[in-house]
Amino acid sequence: MHRQASEGHRVLISAPYGNDAQSVALLLRSQGYDSKVCPTINDIAEAIDDHVGVILVTEEALHADLEPLHHALADQPSWSDVPFVLLSGRQAGSRRSTDAIRRRLPENAVNVILLERPLSGESLTSAVASAMRARQKQFEIRDQITELASERARLSTLLELIPVGVAFVDREGSTVVSNPEFRRFLPSGQIPSRLPDGEERWIGHEADGSRITRSRFVTARALRGELIQGVEFLYKPEVGDPVWTRVSGIPLVEDDRITGAISVIVDIDEQKRGQTALADAAQELERQVEERTEALSDALAKLEAEIEERERAEAALRQAQKMEAVGQLTGGIAHDFNNMLTGVIGALDILKRRIAGGRLDDLDRFMDAASTSAQRAAGLTARLLAFSRRQSLDSKPTDVNALVLSLEELLKRTMSERIAVSIVSQTGLPAAIVDANQLESAILNLAINARDAMPDGGALAVETDVVIVDAAYCATRPGISPGRFVVVAVSDNGTGMDAATLEKVFDPFFTTKPIGQGTGLGLSMVYGFAKQSNGQVRIHSAPGEGTSVKIFLPVAEEAAETGEAGSVALHHGDGEAVLLVEDDASVRLLVRDVLEELGYDAIEVAEPEAAIRLLAGGRSFDLMITDVGLPGMNGRQLAEIAREHLPELPVLFVTGYAENAVNRSGFLGENMQMITKPFQIDVLSAKIGEMLNRADRNDDPR
Ligand SMILES: Nc1ncnc2c1ncn2[C@@H]1O[C@H](COP(=O)(O)OP(=O)(O)OP(=O)(O)O)[C@@H](O)[C@H]1O
Ligand SMILES: [Mg+2]
Repeated sequence: MHRQASEGHRVLISAPYGNDAQSVALLLRSQGYDSKVCPTINDIAEAIDDHVGVILVTEEALHADLEPLHHALADQPSWSDVPFVLLSGRQAGSRRSTDAIRRRLPENAVNVILLERPLSGESLTSAVASAMRARQKQFEIRDQITELASERARLSTLLELIPVGVAFVDREGSTVVSNPEFRRFLPSGQIPSRLPDGEERWIGHEADGSRITRSRFVTARALRGELIQGVEFLYKPEVGDPVWTRVSGIPLVEDDRITGAISVIVDIDEQKRGQTALADAAQELERQVEERTEALSDALAKLEAEIEERERAEAALRQAQKMEAVGQLTGGIAHDFNNMLTGVIGALDILKRRIAGGRLDDLDRFMDAASTSAQRAAGLTARLLAFSRRQSLDSKPTDVNALVLSLEELLKRTMSERIAVSIVSQTGLPAAIVDANQLESAILNLAINARDAMPDGGALAVETDVVIVDAAYCATRPGISPGRFVVVAVSDNGTGMDAATLEKVFDPFFTTKPIGQGTGLGLSMVYGFAKQSNGQVRIHSAPGEGTSVKIFLPVAEEAAETGEAGSVALHHGDGEAVLLVEDDASVRLLVRDVLEELGYDAIEVAEPEAAIRLLAGGRSFDLMITDVGLPGMNGRQLAEIAREHLPELPVLFVTGYAENAVNRSGFLGENMQMITKPFQIDVLSAKIGEMLNRADRNDDPR
């Protein structure tokens, strides 16, 4: 501590005789001291305080009551030991012991410098200076003590007030110093490892989850020299709720020796309970999520059950609708067939009676009538087969533009005069794989529908185009696969259709036309034909806005075949051997008659086995005509067997319908042909002639 010159540098002077006091005071002042003259020793006693540096007295001044001085000295703080400079009396010749002189001062004045008079001013000032130095040392000690005291006060305030338990523990585990927070947990001052019930009250866990045992308690470990930071303990007080704490231990080491430890306890109960609450909340949340998930999966299961139920109901509905359609179909067929059969049976009846009665004139009329009815019936079955997709299709690369153009004349004639017909063909159109005859008949059907929808006239357009159908398009329209398609669109600007009609147009026998005008098979046939050709039909229509029907046909990889069609001339045979295999007696009879009439040698059998026997017997034939659907095996299998005997044998198949003959090109082998029942004689003769000629050519070695 820095002090002013006046502070602590005061010299109190008491010298009762002469003007000794004044002269000493002057001398000391001249040396920079703050000297004060006190007339009696009592005045000195009163003047003693912290600022007194040195007391200078003459022996004579001590001839008084020294009690007050004794008291004043006793009242001084412990650090204070005011130095006295005592000037002995001038009693010449009498040498008294210094002790005796010193004893004149009270016994609590111990810091005394005795000077004999007479003495030089120099000796005096040097004695005062050394006393003053000693006194300054005392002041320094005083200041240090004050400083230490306030430091200690601050520290103890801190320890009293901080919410952390702190204790200094000796080597035996007893607390040397502790604060109230520490004593809250350990009032006895013993660390838990020394308490008899320590393990019951302090529950902590090691990292592996096991209980912390007494020897591993924190302060015990610190006393063994380990620094332990923050181990959690649940403290169970004698009364009240358990408290979560965090305990740390710091070893105190002096000269490599453990002298004790500092134990620190922090109350983390609130924080810990907060954590527990949080964990509880998380668990609760998890439980709720689980509950919700369960509820959701229940709902999902219910939904799935409902969907299943609905699917069952829909399937039942579809079945009902199918049955209705089948009923409609069979009813329609029965009705139409009855009409046609009536025409045939009636005419035959009349013919029979007329022949029996010998009236042979005018028979042609009835034969024509019977034949017309039968033709109509054949037409109907053809359309039914088309619808059921069981017709025998002769699909091959076809130039659709040429086909459409060839129909123009026919279309114009079929439409009324008030209908404008236009053909719009796409240039560079690729060939489509399709049965040309069936496509023609489909276009005609659509054109007739268009005509019927435009009773007051309008416009009919037949357009061709090529489109690429991509996966996205297919995804929304089942029944078609991606690829390139030739499209034939037949459009009109007639009445159009409402949604209810549009939904049913492909149903067989669905018609809005008066009885006798429509059978309701047109669109169903177009639909069946397109599907069977690996294509698709799309229809767009709105009431008053007309209708457009598009037939999609797959694009052919190869170019179209051209101009095969020609006029068919009746071909006559020259006794060639023809093996006829047919299980239907009437068809067999008919074909045999035709063959004989044409000049062939017909050998007929009803079963394939009979045919095989003939072939195996070594008989040679120029041609085999066989039904496709035979008892026991199909015509194609029979043909295979026949070829084993006669490898070059041409085979002509006759089919009503056959599932396995649906696509001729896939069914037929080399030098095999097919003809569909019912057939006309000229078609049959042309086919036979063609095949035999081809066989001749093939046989010709030149
Ligand atoms: N272009 C069109 N404009 C308006 N309605 C049409 C058109 N094409 C078909 N329809 C409707 O669809 C129904 C079914 O047509 P579909 O061709 O299958 O049978 P149909 O023409 O009635 O008889 P048919 O067997 O003689 O063709 C028609 O009766 C008609 O109501
Ligand atoms: Mg029609």
